This record gives sequence, C-alpha cells and structure tokens, in this order.
Amino acid sequence: MLRREEWLDLCRKLDWDYSYVAERDVFPEAVSGHPWLPHEQWKAWDEPFRTSYAEYVTSQHAKDDSVYAVRDAVGRTEHFQRLAPEWRSSLKLHGATLPLAEFAAVVGNLRAARFGRDSAWRTTATFGALDELRHTQIPLLIFHELVRSDPQFDWTHKFYHTNNWIAVAARHLFDEILLTANPIEFAIATNFVFETGFTNLQFVGLAAMANVVGDHMFEKMITSIQTDEARHAQIGPSVLKIVMEHDPEYAQYLSEKWFWRSWLLISIVTGFSMDYLTPLSRRRYSFKEFIEEWVLEQYVAGLEEIGLRKPWYWDTLLQEMDLYHHMVYASAYTYRATAWFDFVVPGPEERHWLRAKYPQHWDEIDAIWEQISSRWEESDPGAEWSVHGATPVGFCALCQLVLCNGTPSHNSAVVVSQNGRKHILCSEPCAWIFRREAERYAEHQDIVHRILAGAAPANVLELTRKYFGLTRETWGRDACGGRYPWLQRIKRLERVG
Ligand SMILES: [Fe+2]
Ligand SMILES: [Fe+2]
Ligand SMILES: [Zn+2]
Repeated sequence: MLRREEWLDLCRKLDWDYSYVAERDVFPEAVSGHPWLPHEQWKAWDEPFRTSYAEYVTSQHAKDDSVYAVRDAVGRTEHFQRLAPEWRSSLKLHGATLPLAEFAAVVGNLRAARFGRDSAWRTTATFGALDELRHTQIPLLIFHELVRSDPQFDWTHKFYHTNNWIAVAARHLFDEILLTANPIEFAIATNFVFETGFTNLQFVGLAAMANVVGDHMFEKMITSIQTDEARHAQIGPSVLKIVMEHDPEYAQYLSEKWFWRSWLLISIVTGFSMDYLTPLSRRRYSFKEFIEEWVLEQYVAGLEEIGLRKPWYWDTLLQEMDLYHHMVYASAYTYRATAWFDFVVPGPEERHWLRAKYPQHWDEIDAIWEQISSRWEESDPGAEWSVHGATPVGFCALCQLVLCNGTPSHNSAVVVSQNGRKHILCSEPCAWIFRREAERYAEHQDIVHRILAGAAPANVLELTRKYFGLTRETWGRDACGGRYPWLQRIKRLERVG
C-alpha cells in the first residue's frame, strides 16, 4: 500500500492542461475573478491542512457524533429553560443571523470549488461547502426543538425570509459577500477578513461566555463549528499571497471594504451578546476586550504578515469600538418590538461595569439609559409601548443599519449625491465604499424608501406586523416587562399622590 504522502497530492492537487478549450473559457474572469492569471501563476497554491476526502469524512463524523452526544445530555428544552432569559435572547440573535448565512456560504464555497484557480483550492473549498452545510443544519436542528416552548426560536429559520430591518441589512451584506462574490473576492472577503478576522470573536469568545453561563450545548456547537472555520479560512491567506504579487491595491481595497462591512454587523451580533445579553455575574470580559485580543492583535498581525496595511479608517474604528454597539443596542431597545428577541435595560450595577469597561464615552450612553429608566418609572409594568419609539428611523444606504455611528451628540452620517439622488450613509467608511461602487449600491431601496414608495407601512406597529413579519407572540419585549427591582416606581406614586 502506498504511503500517505505518495498518494495525497493525486487526490487533492491534480491539474491538467486543456487540449480543446482555452483556459480563459474554463475559468472566465467574470466568474473566476480578478486578477486573471494563467494556472502557471497559481500552481504553487497550497494550504496547511492538506486533508483528503476520506480523512475529512472520518473527522467530521466524529465531530458530529460528539455534538449529538452533548445534545442528548444537555441540549433539550428543559436545559434551555434553565438559562437566563437575556442569554436565551443572545441565542435567538445568533440563531437567526448566522445559520442561514452559513447556508449562503455553501454557495460561495461551491463557486470556488468549480472556479477557484488551483485544484487544491477547489478541493479545500469543496470541504468548505460541506462544512457550511453542517453549520446550517446543526443549529437548525438544535433550535427547532425549542420552538414549541418559545416561538421566537422559529426565527432561526424564518429571519432571512422576512423583510425585518435587521434581515434587510444582513442580506445586503451576505448576499454580496457569499452569494455574488467571485472566488477571489470570496477568498479575501469571507475566508480571510470574515473568517480569520471575526468568527473567532463569535465562535471562540462567545463559546467562552457560554461555558461560564452554563450553556454547554451552545458552547459545544459553536466550538465544533469553529474547528471547520479555522480549516477552510486557510484558503484566504493562500489566495491573498498570489493576488498581492499581481494587484496589491485591489487586495487592499477588498480587505478594507469587507472589514468595515463585517465589523458593523458583527459588532451588533457579538456586541449585544457580550455586553448586554450575558448576565452580569457571568461576564469576564467586555466585547471591546475580545475585539482587542482577536481583532486588533491577531487580525492585524495577519494583515502585516501578508503585506497589507491597516485600513485607512483605523482611528474611526478605534472610536467606534467604544460606541457603536452601545448606540445600536439603545436604539434597538427603544424599537424592540421590531426584533424577534427580548431586551433588558442595564441596571445600576451593569452601568457601573460598562462605565469601567468603556470609560471614554460611557457618560453619553448612560444618559440614554437614565432617560429610558425614568420612562419606565413613569409607566406601569408591562406597558411596553409607553417606553417604545413610535416613528420609523433612518437607515444607511450601504449597510442598511440604523444611522447610529458617531456619538449621541455628534452623529457621523454623511450625504452623498449620485445622479441627482441623495443618499445618507452612516459613516465615512460606508460613504467611501458607496462612492467607489455607486452603480452597484445606488438602486437598493432601504426601509424608509420602501415606506415612501408605499411598499411598507409607515406606522411602526403595522410595519412590525405586516412588513417585518412579527406577531404578538414573537415580537421583542423587555425581558422583565419593566419590572426591575432597582426602578424607583414608588417615587412616581408619591409624586402622583
Ligand atoms: Fe461556517
Ligand atoms: Fe466558513
Ligand atoms: Zn453604514
């Protein structure tokens, strides 16, 4: 029998010359990506895992077995019901935004499995596609059982099939990065930027928190997923190295564009979970501390190793780390019926903790919570709509998220004129991307445009029910119904009396 190293390259790295068709026709630039180079330039492509199909199947089977064993032991409804309500919200946020995005990543990987420019790249992308299918199926399976006891978990599957504002924003990002990107852009945007820059944060950082919270099912599931991400993410640097030799400015642009776009969405998904939806007694690190370790240190080291510069907006990003997810959380709290999970008001001890973690700008954010708390003091418990926004808000023409960049006193929104039409962008980096590819983005209708065009209702309650797809059973509430032990409701009664 041949030794492994004698047959491995035949099964994962096997290219050939075409006799009756041109290489450019087998790998057209429009589908394979820029820069178009003859295979000669790609043939040194390699990645460190060097897995064969048989090895892949054996190790994935073992991983699945161990996830299902944990599910049998601690992954049933009764186990989830023991978890803190705010942590369950964090599961609903993760469950809706990520598993079906992973399904879109199957498509991106399959395109690379056909149009990637070297056979070893195509092999690794084939495994990547199978990985992403697993990352879709496992959470769907685990969360499906919970739908019976909590219909909000139905949004694990439903989310991307709705026009919910967060779904509109997430689709705008994931459709482009996962469904329409060619294999070179996919390798840089998804494999390098998203998978080495951000999934560690959501899958390793959050797994550590799940462990402390006692949610061993979620911990097991996302840790298992991350082992796949770490493998197929290796496509990124291997492609980047070759692109850097031929068009380094294109590589720089894609890395800056996709880092910013990924940052905005991930800072909401991960930032909410880490700084608001994890019970205070279980928090060990803030979202910012995780960002410092996983993104500022590790991702930047990865950029430098390849010869890329830090993004030009780095100073803006450093400021955003103190503000953005706090601003969006406060905004989403006041429009919580438009989401499919419940929110909590940070109490005095949490605000004290957040002030210590975010000393620079917390005063400004704290004032918002002071205002929300006093609204609850003046309202009866459970009177959700008296502490809730009533008119639709504005959205960014690129990221489709609420215009929450900058600080509470200085919003950083920018107006860009394009063919006589004005577009509002949440930030300078979103405006920069929009201007560079205006013809790609200008026609997209944000929620406000849809309301103005009569496609969506302007009344927030109607918008929530008829357009965002939420019902009385599923729309987001205050997890405590405003019954916080620290609220001074008695004072209101005295004032009234
Ligand atoms: Fe994945
Ligand atoms: Fe992935
Ligand atoms: Zn934006």
